[in-house]
Amino acid sequence: MAEKRAEDGVAAMAACYQRFDPAAYLQYNYTPPRADFQRQDSIVPWKLARLHRAFTEGDVSGELLIDIGSGPTLYQVLSGCEVFNQVLLTDFLEVNRQELRRWLKDEGGCKLDWTPYLQYVCKLEGRRPSAWTEKAANLRKVVKDILPIDVHCPQPMAPGAIPPAGADCLVSCFCLESVSPDLLSFTRALGHIGKLLRAGGHLLLIGALGESYYLGGPGVKIPVVPLNEAQVCASLKESGYTLIRLEVYTLPQDMRVGVDDVTGVFFVKAKKD
Ligand SMILES: C[S@@+](CC[C@H](N)C(=O)[O-])C[C@H]1O[C@@H](n2cnc3c(N)ncnc32)[C@H](O)[C@@H]1O
Repeated sequence: MAEKRAEDGVAAMAACYQRFDPAAYLQYNYTPPRADFQRQDSIVPWKLARLHRAFTEGDVSGELLIDIGSGPTLYQVLSGCEVFNQVLLTDFLEVNRQELRRWLKDEGGCKLDWTPYLQYVCKLEGRRPSAWTEKAANLRKVVKDILPIDVHCPQPMAPGAIPPAGADCLVSCFCLESVSPDLLSFTRALGHIGKLLRAGGHLLLIGALGESYYLGGPGVKIPVVPLNEAQVCASLKESGYTLIRLEVYTLPQDMRVGVDDVTGVFFVKAKKD
C-alpha cells in the first residue's frame, strides 16, 4: 500500500515536470536580484563561492564528475570543470538537455547569457575576468555528454552510461527535494544517486530549505519537500554518506520574489562511505 502511494507520488511529480519551462525558470532564478554579482548576499554568488571552495580544498579530485539534475543551468560545474577531465551533465527532461546542448555547441539562441557567471568564477579563482573565454572553452571540452537521468530509479542512468567504478564526485543542486513527493523518496533518491559514485567519492549537494513549491514556468506550481537541516543530515546518514560540512544561507527579504516559498539554502559536502 505504502509502496503504491510512493509510486503514485513519483508519477505525479513526473507529470508536473512535463510543463517545466526552461526560459522562465532561468529568468526567475538566474537573473537579479538572485544573481546579482555586485552583492555578496545574493543567492547565486553564495552558491558559486561554496562550490569554488569545495572544489579547490584539495580533497575533491579524480577523473569523472557527474552533475545530477542539471536542468537548463551550468553554474554548478564552473568550478568543477577545472578539476575533472570529464564532466557529465544529466537531466530528466529533453527540453533542459537541449538548452544545455545549445550552449555547448555554441550555436547561439541560449535562454541565458552565462558570461557574468563565468567571469565571477574566474574572479573567485584569482584569474582576470577576461579569462572567462578560456573557462568557457575548457567547459565545452570537458563536458563529454548530456544524458537522461531519473533519480527515482534504483539505477538512475542507462546501463553502461558511466564506467563501472563510478564517478569520483557528484554535484547536485535543487534537484532531489524538487522532484520527490516526500522525505522518504528524497532519502531513497540520495541512495540511488550514491550508486553512481565510487566509495570514498564526494557528494556536493545544494538544496532548498523550508520550501513547499516553486514555479517551473508561468502558473506551473511544482511541489517540493520542505526540508530542515536535521532532515538533510539524517537522510545523508541513512543513504550511506558521511557529512563533512553543512552551510546554510538565509534568504534576505528582497530575494523572496514570489517564484517559490524557499526560506534558505543548504550546501553539503559529504563523502560516500
Ligand atoms: C529545480 S530544477 C534544478 C535545476 C538546476 N540543477 C538548478 O540548480 O537550477 C530540478 C530539475 O530536476 C529535473 N528532474 C525532474 N524529475 C527528475 C527525476 N526524476 N530525476 C532527475 N531529475 C529530475 C528537472 O527536469 C529539473 O531540471
